[in-house]
Amino acid sequence: MTPIAISEPGKPQLAADQIDYVDLYRRWEAGNWSAMDLDFTQDKVDWNETFDEFMRKAARWNYSLFFFGEDEVADQLSPFIDAAPLEEQKYFLTTQQVDEARHAIFFSRFFNEVIGVNGGSYAETLQSVDQDLTYGIKKVFQSLGRVTDELRAGDHSKAKLAQAVALYHFIVEGTLAQTGQHFIADYLNKMDVLPGFRSGMENVEKDEQRHIAFGVKLLADLNRQDPEVKPAVREIFGEVMPHTVGVFRPPNDDERYVEVFGETLINVATTGQRQLDMRLAAAGFESTGPDGVLPFLDPEVSHETRAERAFVMQRAGFFSGGTEHVKNDPLALEYFFDLIENSVRADHPLKKPTTIQWDFSDAEPWHLRIDNGSSKAAKGLVSGADVTFKTDLRTWVGLTMGEDKIGKAILSRKLKPSGKLRTLVALPRVFEG
Ligand SMILES: [Fe+2]
Ligand SMILES: [Fe+2]
Repeated sequence: MTPIAISEPGKPQLAADQIDYVDLYRRWEAGNWSAMDLDFTQDKVDWNETFDEFMRKAARWNYSLFFFGEDEVADQLSPFIDAAPLEEQKYFLTTQQVDEARHAIFFSRFFNEVIGVNGGSYAETLQSVDQDLTYGIKKVFQSLGRVTDELRAGDHSKAKLAQAVALYHFIVEGTLAQTGQHFIADYLNKMDVLPGFRSGMENVEKDEQRHIAFGVKLLADLNRQDPEVKPAVREIFGEVMPHTVGVFRPPNDDERYVEVFGETLINVATTGQRQLDMRLAAAGFESTGPDGVLPFLDPEVSHETRAERAFVMQRAGFFSGGTEHVKNDPLALEYFFDLIENSVRADHPLKKPTTIQWDFSDAEPWHLRIDNGSSKAAKGLVSGADVTFKTDLRTWVGLTMGEDKIGKAILSRKLKPSGKLRTLVALPRVFEG
């Protein structure tokens, strides 16, 4: 099969141009498989005899995240079909919707027949995953639900469709799901267990490759057609990326949930970030830097170090949106302010050098100096700051993660701003997201 390269004259060739919507449809027909025909007889034996109790617990936690995700993406795909501008895109998306339903049924069968949850209906089987859902995964799918609701309500603009594709195909499928699939497939192959599940996962993986390729092509096309696409994509990445850190967060931060299968959390997270960068490049987007869609990340820092830092912050509660205690961990705070420093928009409206400071009741104070093209965050209070926030860590973290509203925090006296009103009013346009 030779993919047909479609490129517009004068526009640079992208890896996305090697992808063709009709070819993806053709591959779907050729790759059809049955979730109903998989044989789980040996899987039941392996699950109960080769896996020990902790392995069963760890695997169930992980597979629950997948089952929930597959059900969600199956439910959220139909508005994409209405919003896609081209007939061949609609046809492919219809095949993708069938795939996602098949994936959900595949997991449902495994939960019933191998794990033995004995759900009477699909809804009941699905309920059995609730206990294992992380804050991160709930937040990511909450955002997906909101964006697809906007498509459903009739916003079929290229910018809205691009946000939906960035979230669904790039973040959920390309970064989270595919990384998890590789992790699972690797250890099942090495251990040579769960042959039915393994064969199902191999098919899921092939399906997901098509879905992701479609997303890369569609986002590249939309971006070339409308200048509002890129800012919209930046916005959705700014909202959702912090929540992705906590998707694959094991109960009690117990890394044995991953290590029991011969892998580390850092490796899994690093792979996910690399995948995302690769897909963004294929679609013609920069990831980091002032023009990137992830400007809050430091381009000088390796994927691995980024993942390590994210986990330090996570263990201190910084990605909990203020739903859990935020620890006064100086290192986590340093990484947090690094993100804030990078989040200052290149086109911010501040005319003069400006200093914002945070006078925390439960941690060391920090300040941020914004001076034309550069911004620098540092520990301590400074005299003559333009705006000072008196607050506590949990409140500020809740605000930056969108869990709380600034007006509400001020009214409840959890956040006390002082200083220049003009600077305060301009702040929402100073930071990304
Ligand atoms: Fe899927
Ligand atoms: Fe998918």
